[in-house]
Amino acid sequence: MSEITPEVLISEQKIQKKVADLAARISADYADCDDLLLVGILKGSFIFLSDLSRALTIPRSVDFMALSTYGESERTQTDGAVRMIMDLRRNITGKHVLVVEDIVDTGYTLSYLLRNLAARQPASLKTCVLVEKPERREVFTQIDYLGFSIPDVWVVGCGLDWAERFRTLPYIGVVHPEA
Ligand code: PRP
Repeated sequence: MSEITPEVLISEQKIQKKVADLAARISADYADCDDLLLVGILKGSFIFLSDLSRALTIPRSVDFMALSTYGESERTQTDGAVRMIMDLRRNITGKHVLVVEDIVDTGYTLSYLLRNLAARQPASLKTCVLVEKPERREVFTQIDYLGFSIPDVWVVGCGLDWAERFRTLPYIGVVHPEA
C-alpha cells in the first residue's frame, strides 16, 4: 500500500493550544470536585484523553468503554444502532463524569452513551469532544466542551483513523478514501 500523507486541517500547535484551553476551563469548572472521572470511548479517544487528562490540574481518574455501531440500515432514532462491547470497571453512581470523545459525526454514539450513563445516576454528566461535524448530525447530542467544528471531510490523526491507519498523527489531517 503506497504511503499517503494526509493534508493538514488542524495543526499540532493549534491542537495543543486547544487541549490546554479546554483543560483550563474544565479544571476551573470542576475546581471543587475531588475526583472527576474521565470516560474515554475506545478506540478513538485514547490520544485526546491522554493529552487532556495530563493537562488537567484537578484530581481525576480514568476509565474506558468500547462501543460498536451497526450498519446504517439497522439504525433507528431510538436505539441509535449502537451497542456496548466493553463497560466501565467502576460504578459511577454519585460520581462526576466527563465523557471524552474524539469525534461526533451523526451523534448516535454519544447520545446512546449519555442515555446509558445517565441511567446509572452520576452526580453530573458532561461531554468533551475534540471535533464535530455539524453537517453530519442526525440526532441531537450534548457537547459541553468542544475543540473544533469541521466540515464533512474524512479526518485522521489524534486518535482518528482511516482503516486503523493514522491514529497517532499529531495533527488532524484529511484523507480522500475514494482517491
Ligand atoms: C467514532 C468516534 C465515535 C463515533 C462517532 O468511532 O470515536 O465514537 O465514531 O460517530 P457518530 O457520531 O456517527 O456515532 P468509530 O466507530 O470510528 O470507532 P473507533 O473509535 O474505534 O475508531
